[in-house]
Amino acid sequence: MSSCRFYVTTPIYYVNALPHLGTFYTTVVADALARYHRARGHETFFLTGLDEHGQKIERIAREKGMDTQAYCDGIAAQFEDAWRRFEISKDDFIRTTSPRHERAVAEMWRRLAAAGDIYEAVYDGMYCVGCEEAKTEEDVVTENGEKLCKIHLRPVERVKEKNYFFRLSKYAPRLLEWYARTPSPVQPESRRNEVRAFVEGGLRDLSISRTTASVKWGIPVPGDPSHTVYVWIDALTNYLTVLGGPDAVARGAGKTALWEASHHLIAKDILRFHAVYWPAMLWSAGLAPPAEVFCHGYLTVKGQKISKSMPATRVDPSAIAAALGVDPLRYFVLREYTFGGDGDFTYEALFQRYESDLGNDLGNLLNRTIAMAHKFVGAELPGPGPDASARREERNAQPVATSFSPFAVDANTVLRDAERAWDSFDPSTALQLAWVLVRKANALIDRAKPWMLAKEPNRRQELLEILATCCEALRWVALMIAPAMPTAATEILRQLGRAADGGTWPERWAWPGGTLTAPQPVFPRIEPERQAALIDKWAPVESTAAGAPALPAAKPSHAPATPPAEITLDDFAKIELRAAKVLSAERVPKADKLLKLTLDVGGGEPRTVVSGIADAYAPEDLVGKTVIYLANLKPAKLRGVVSQGMILAAGDAEVLGLSALDRDVPPGTLIR
Ligand code: ME8
Ligand code: MG
Repeated sequence: MSSCRFYVTTPIYYVNALPHLGTFYTTVVADALARYHRARGHETFFLTGLDEHGQKIERIAREKGMDTQAYCDGIAAQFEDAWRRFEISKDDFIRTTSPRHERAVAEMWRRLAAAGDIYEAVYDGMYCVGCEEAKTEEDVVTENGEKLCKIHLRPVERVKEKNYFFRLSKYAPRLLEWYARTPSPVQPESRRNEVRAFVEGGLRDLSISRTTASVKWGIPVPGDPSHTVYVWIDALTNYLTVLGGPDAVARGAGKTALWEASHHLIAKDILRFHAVYWPAMLWSAGLAPPAEVFCHGYLTVKGQKISKSMPATRVDPSAIAAALGVDPLRYFVLREYTFGGDGDFTYEALFQRYESDLGNDLGNLLNRTIAMAHKFVGAELPGPGPDASARREERNAQPVATSFSPFAVDANTVLRDAERAWDSFDPSTALQLAWVLVRKANALIDRAKPWMLAKEPNRRQELLEILATCCEALRWVALMIAPAMPTAATEILRQLGRAADGGTWPERWAWPGGTLTAPQPVFPRIEPERQAALIDKWAPVESTAAGAPALPAAKPSHAPATPPAEITLDDFAKIELRAAKVLSAERVPKADKLLKLTLDVGGGEPRTVVSGIADAYAPEDLVGKTVIYLANLKPAKLRGVVSQGMILAAGDAEVLGLSALDRDVPPGTLIR
């Protein structure tokens, strides 16, 4: 790393899902890198945020019968809450519906237009709303005469309308040149080869707007309010918004020096956007491309990509963190997977790392070092300063035959290697190196047997130095793992009486002395029975009805970040809730989240309700159930079906369970 600046970004996540293990992963890696660079004293800026525009979001809000902005606000509050709990030390949190971002996108557009790179033409082709991307014949499979997006396996939509286009094709030579730089800005190599082949295959110009007749939920095109800006042009610009926007970066104002140190972390799903479209846009706008696009693989469950649309791959980081602590989960994903590749998640591997690396190796070293120090020396463990040598002479001790010095040489090598690993985006190796010190210190204790030394008064100096060496190893380890496990690192330093060292990077191998606290387990043991019970609780329940998606067993308790305002009984009385029996249920064609229910609500005609619960319930499982029905909701048309009211369900972005009554009551019964 040549520069002393470091700007790291995660993708801005779509607000169609809450954080899951996949989004947690990229965000934790970015966070660890940011923490490492801060500890090194580099000017660091860490950005994450949310992608809130586009058809996908417009539709999900509509399906939920919510105002689109209110829907986004609700999800945003939950992301912020989750990132707080997961110790994500972001310096900014960008939301694409914020005024500063809308300004930045308008600036970006004007710059592309000024470069002569925008023109109008008719787009006539396919579009996948799941991907928010135009599709060609190679991107689709045909099933029963219908074209499905290969990624989402959902029908693509046919779009034929006048759009604005960006002259992407013009930038092919420049892109190829850019990939070939050393070191290459696109990492790792396998991903670089992939985009190179894509560019060599010939670039088509990119449609970068939609008419408001087809997509309203977007930023208006400057000078043409009948179009909205394509969601990806909008989204990519976020990386500049937080530095002051494209114009400011072009002027070199404010935080813009960070742009030259920009590192985008992404997974392979969005490589093309970041390594092809984005640099081309930047050149067109008269700006430098990002310093680096680092692309990692997918976390999978039984080989299947973890994603919101696959309930069977559901792994809830909140539930795991609630039982194990946030740090062990952060450590696990950083240590277990080589950043760049794919990785399969299993609870067994998680517990394995927890038990061996954290409990047995590190936890045990801390515990026994501190316990022995208390027992043989006392809480005050001095450093080897002038005091120590004075003591040595005083006692006329034998020559100090400890491995203190050899250890020091190794520790410095280990530290340099760990720095290289963090600098090359390899947290797994960086952490593995910290464990070299852990194991050396544990081996030193086993070999030197402090409990034996303590019996020989004339070997007290040796005893002191061995304990000091172990404390110093622990101090270094705490500082080296702090990017991954900030809370555990703080706790280890506290027990060593070295809390003030927090947030720094190791410099000199010399135990500076400290007042040790009572030993306290940082990674308490989890008995096998409890492990098994937790795995049972966390694992998605196997589906019962054929075709029914699995339901999560663990319900995350997502308390709203800001509690809603109080209401009076009169307010509540405006809501008419009634028991209703499901007479029939069927899927709504082309809307894979929606079920159309016919409800017996007591007197009168049965009511029709369209409900976004198809991810959680198979239609056949609902027939005969008594549910709670909101009867006086203004009817709304969803996918061409008039929905008369709604049924209540638990969960927010995701349906976790359906409201039901604990005994059979006649349909139509009022609920108060
Ligand atoms: O694509 N394994 O948002 P998104 C590893 N809004 N990483 C995963 C993952 C998995 N199974 N699943 C998700 C978008 N991710 C756009 C981005 S950026 C200008 C706009 C992570 O919500 C990974 O970082 O679909 C992936 O690239 C990202 O989430 C996609 O998030
Ligand atoms: Mg996605």
